[in-house]
Amino acid sequence: MATCPCFLETLMSRRSVRRFRPDPIPRELVERIVEAGIRAPTAGGGEQWFFVAVLDEARRRRIHELLIQAHMRYAQEVLRTPLPRDKAERWLRVMRRGEYLAPLYIAAYLDLRKRLYRDEYLELERLWAIQSLAAAIENMLLAAHGLGLGGVWLGVPLLMRREFDEVLQPPEGCELQGILAIGYRAEEPGPRPRRPLHEVLRTI
Ligand SMILES: Cc1cc2nc3c(=O)[nH]c(=O)nc-3n(C[C@H](O)[C@H](O)[C@H](O)COP(=O)(O)O)c2cc1C
Repeated sequence: MATCPCFLETLMSRRSVRRFRPDPIPRELVERIVEAGIRAPTAGGGEQWFFVAVLDEARRRRIHELLIQAHMRYAQEVLRTPLPRDKAERWLRVMRRGEYLAPLYIAAYLDLRKRLYRDEYLELERLWAIQSLAAAIENMLLAAHGLGLGGVWLGVPLLMRREFDEVLQPPEGCELQGILAIGYRAEEPGPRPRRPLHEVLRTI
């Protein structure tokens, strides 16, 4: 198979984008992104995932409200050092002005309705299925970036699964694992630094 140097360029130039233009995303692009997601490796070939793509404006606005609440909970209750009040209030204002409001959300669900392994391996099955789903989420982020869109992976909805499920209406028995906010970029963030390789890699 031919090598593809431009793929690495796409991967290395991805950034989390949190502010989007309101331009709608065509359904065809939504499908291309999710097609890329489900090309991810999947443990045991299980494909124990389900996706809810949200284009509808009223639902997107409700999701945005919930995202504001979830991020505030994260800032005040989850962080070991909570965000100081003035910073939290500033962030709240930024979010109310439209940060995280996206023309497309894709919610990623763990779907263990079809089980592959014996009950005593349930924990491992969940772990493998969640790892597979994470690979699919990253594939979708990269695909969105490759298609000229921006996006961010959102974990804070896991703090308020019930409220998000009311909007997203997943099939019974599915468990929310993350949401992608995707759209045409209204910001061009620089790269967020990473720890140097020598700290995180040992070659033996
Ligand atoms: C599992 C996971 C959960 C995340 N949750 C959030 C989130 O709730 N809100 C947010 O703004 N960013 C979230 N992010 C994005 C990270 O903050 C971001 O990837 C990190 O700061 C590195 O920046 P970069 O993606 O631009 O390289 C999440 C990323 C991952 C992998």
